[in-house]
Amino acid sequence: MPANKRILVLPGDGIGPEVMRETERVMDWLAKKRSFSYQVSRGLVGGAAYDAKGVSITDETVADAMASDAVLFGSVGGPKWDAVPRQHRPEAGLLRLRKDLDLFANLRPAIVFDSMVGSSTLKPEVIKGLDLMIIRELTSGLYFGEPRGELKKHDGTRYCIDTQYYTQPEVERVARVGFELAQKRGNKLHSVEKANVMETGVFWRSLVTALHKKDYPTVELRHMYADACAMELVRNPKQFDVIVTDNLFGDLLSDCAAMLTGSIGMLPSASLGIADSSGRRRALYEPVHGSAPDIAGKSLANPIAQILSMSMMLRYSFDDQASADLVDGAIQNVLSKGVRTGDIMTEGARKVSTVEMGSAILAELDKLG
Ligand code: IPM
Ligand code: MN
Repeated sequence: MPANKRILVLPGDGIGPEVMRETERVMDWLAKKRSFSYQVSRGLVGGAAYDAKGVSITDETVADAMASDAVLFGSVGGPKWDAVPRQHRPEAGLLRLRKDLDLFANLRPAIVFDSMVGSSTLKPEVIKGLDLMIIRELTSGLYFGEPRGELKKHDGTRYCIDTQYYTQPEVERVARVGFELAQKRGNKLHSVEKANVMETGVFWRSLVTALHKKDYPTVELRHMYADACAMELVRNPKQFDVIVTDNLFGDLLSDCAAMLTGSIGMLPSASLGIADSSGRRRALYEPVHGSAPDIAGKSLANPIAQILSMSMMLRYSFDDQASADLVDGAIQNVLSKGVRTGDIMTEGARKVSTVEMGSAILAELDKLG
């Protein structure tokens, strides 16, 4: 692996710093044992940045992110910043990073490890062996569409607008990621929108259909309405291989898919930009879970989603499948030995803290590597 990968670490708020600490221990291990050569810089984001700098992310931190090979992101937000104006809210820092780095493809895998089948609220036969990938469009749609905001009619009635907006290239580039990932997996793609009510849904469906015909005719393509998809995810999730959908539906459906795996504390994600001429993509890796302020600072949080996000970084940014397999394997072994944080606790398992979970994963890595 080429030396000196530049990684920007942004722990953020709530449980972010705690789960990031365990992740950095794993990175240290990789540096020592697998000569994973990297350079870390650190920055503030979210409420932590707001408290220190008055903004949810500074221009310097964004520039640092642009210059990095990968951003490892924790989580942002919390009740402490509820009264902060929206443009400075902790979430705004994350949204700005996504937008400025043009990280349009958000990959959110939902995998049920065998040892975790009992932690889901769904019946074992429904979720055993589940392995699906949601690709959420991340830089457009309702999250960024203009106009937006509150206005007043002539008669004084207040009203408010959000705009669902997509250009043809925006739909096509994320759909391509969907088709290409499907080709590497089970060769099946579900494209999800609401073409029955939304103009953007009709537009999305027609573009995906045309692209399929033109460039990916051998991929099995199905269209599904977003509400039906939410239902099918709970009824029979194993019918899915890859799902591609817009920003808002992807937000909702990925939380839903997360709970199939037992805990949102288990789900990593990768947000990728366009590849440049050398094949390098801008990338940010973050857990799907939020900052969980209620349990922050108590060493109760599950660090697995953050560590798995780091392992996605090894795969997608650094093409180091072997190290990523090692990390994923260590996590699976720890789970199959019944080591659990509170969120995935089951009867007869050993309940551990955030730090103990990190240590258990390191001990397992020592055995495997
Ligand atoms: C997510 C989160 C974010 C989103 C928030 C924190 C802005 O829920 O990454 O899914 O809505 O995209
Ligand atoms: Mn979300």
